[in-house]
Amino acid sequence: MASAKNTDPARRSRLKGDLTGTHVRLRPPLPGETTLLFQWLNTPELTAPWDRFSLDSYASFEKNLHSSSEDDGSLYPRFVIAKIEDDRPIGVVGFYRAHPVFEGYDLWYALCDVSERRKGYGKEAVGLTLDFLFAHTRSERVGATSDVENESSYRLLESLGFRREGTLRRALFHHGDWHDVFVYGVTRGEWIKK
Ligand SMILES: CC(C)(COP(=O)(O)OP(=O)(O)OC[C@H]1O[C@@H](n2cnc3c(N)ncnc32)[C@H](O)[C@@H]1OP(=O)(O)O)[C@@H](O)C(=O)NCCC(=O)NCCS
Repeated sequence: MASAKNTDPARRSRLKGDLTGTHVRLRPPLPGETTLLFQWLNTPELTAPWDRFSLDSYASFEKNLHSSSEDDGSLYPRFVIAKIEDDRPIGVVGFYRAHPVFEGYDLWYALCDVSERRKGYGKEAVGLTLDFLFAHTRSERVGATSDVENESSYRLLESLGFRREGTLRRALFHHGDWHDVFVYGVTRGEWIKK
């Protein structure tokens, strides 16, 4: 039996890949936003307090940002998270083929305008990314990883129904030490029923 959420027209249209939610929408970055995104993604305190970080040159960032949709393994942003009310960018999401053999994508996300955190926008944006991936790829599972200390990240995943599937021990090196990482996943069936 379809859930109430699944009979909602906005939800049905999102499941077909229309990436507009209630407060935010996902869209490709505009050429005039490259400098802003470059600043965000080259500020480790902002986007990667819990992650590996490597500086990029502006030239390589610009080239890789605008070709990310042609490369399944690209770690560059795929979409900007924009407020619906004024189309202002507040963050980015990305996804990439995480394993050479297994089907499926891993996603990542950053709400880079910190004044907009804790308002549900990150959750809405990741939900739209799941809608997109399940509508446009044949993947049966979408994964995500989170440093075990990154509570905001794994709480976001859990709030969307991702299940914790395990822990990669000492998998990530940052800030001078090795860190354990939670592995999360959600299946197509779990997401569509939600
Ligand atoms: C992770 C991040 C995107 C969360 O975005 P956000 O818009 O602030 O999150 P939301 O407001 O949508 O919250 C989603 C859920 O997570 C919970 N949550 C968010 N931040 C939390 C925190 N610091 N502590 C506990 N729970 C938190 C919320 O309560 C909410 O749960 P609910 O729906 O059950 O109430 C944001 O903190 C961020 O950009 N962090 C830096 C980048 C990063 O770490 N990215 C993840 C690596 S892939």
